[in-house]
Amino acid sequence: MNELDALVDSARAGFAQATTPADLENAKAQYLGKSGRITELMKGMAALPVDEKKSRGAAINQAKQAIEAALTDRRQALADAELQSQLKAEALDVTLPGRQRGSGGLHPVSLTLERIEAIFGSMGFEVADGPEIESDWFNFTALNTPEDHPARSMHDTFYVEGGSAKAPNLLRTHTSPMQIRHAVQHVKRHRAALDAGQSMPEIRVIAPGRTYRVDSDATHSPMFHQCEGLWVGENVSFKDLKFVFTDFCRTFFESDDLVLRFRPSFFPFTEPSAEIDIQFQQGPLAGRWLEVAGSGQVHPNVVRNMGLDPERYIGFAFGMGPDRLTMLRYGVNDLRLFFDGDVRFLAQFR
Ligand code: PHE
Repeated sequence: MNELDALVDSARAGFAQATTPADLENAKAQYLGKSGRITELMKGMAALPVDEKKSRGAAINQAKQAIEAALTDRRQALADAELQSQLKAEALDVTLPGRQRGSGGLHPVSLTLERIEAIFGSMGFEVADGPEIESDWFNFTALNTPEDHPARSMHDTFYVEGGSAKAPNLLRTHTSPMQIRHAVQHVKRHRAALDAGQSMPEIRVIAPGRTYRVDSDATHSPMFHQCEGLWVGENVSFKDLKFVFTDFCRTFFESDDLVLRFRPSFFPFTEPSAEIDIQFQQGPLAGRWLEVAGSGQVHPNVVRNMGLDPERYIGFAFGMGPDRLTMLRYGVNDLRLFFDGDVRFLAQFR
């Protein structure tokens, strides 16, 4: 191998070792720069005899062109590699699934309330809504629970500003004030017919909502839900209550063999009164009696406070606990889980 071929080879090797454009320019200077090897060889030609100059010049030129070609190739190769690594770094995997926004869901107690409304709706019940800050009159007095009545102590509650000394405001302890509120509105709409001795359409309503008591443990929360039911007409009896509530429970729990028990009890606003217990025949709770509602025939004093004649109008009311129904339906054993707001718990009901 002659000296020029060796030079070209060493230039190629030098260029190949350069891994960045800057390295490559340094390597180029060693051969093609001002004092590079090729430049030196050119200068050396001056000392040669004329007849050798021509062939020597051609040979050096050839070597120079070969080195320049190697340089161009290496520049291109480095530029390609740079582009490839850039593309790789910025690569998008278009086969990855898209990022989705998590979809929310209804709270389990809301699911229960929707279910209650749908079932009672199918039985012809309206749905009414009322204030959570209630006056003493609607929460107690109108419901046949005067100021000194001992039943008030079972409903220890939070009194809030506003209202009068005689009728202070409080957070309602049950949804029963809605019996009065709704009935009074209903009666008002039909006052003319009633005054003319005609009859009015029956009152058939449920009123779900939040209620408050000073109570807190695994099965009680200071804020909880109730759903009131009221059916008043000229010929509504306890047997209608039994039928309606039994039908509701069996539909709600999708269990035709569910058994109900009406256990005598006391409420100032109903007479007679009963606690309603249910018993599952199957599943983990089979055989146990579980209390789900208070109920009774609307007390004559309450019928009077509705603006109706208790000799003519009669009916029943019940108040149930949707939180409790939700616990039973989904097998949840701690009521507080519903109100802690832990998404890991709540997401299970989506
Ligand atoms: N309001 C009662 C309670 O909270 C339940 C009830 C409602 C009882 C309607 C009878 C009639 O305990």
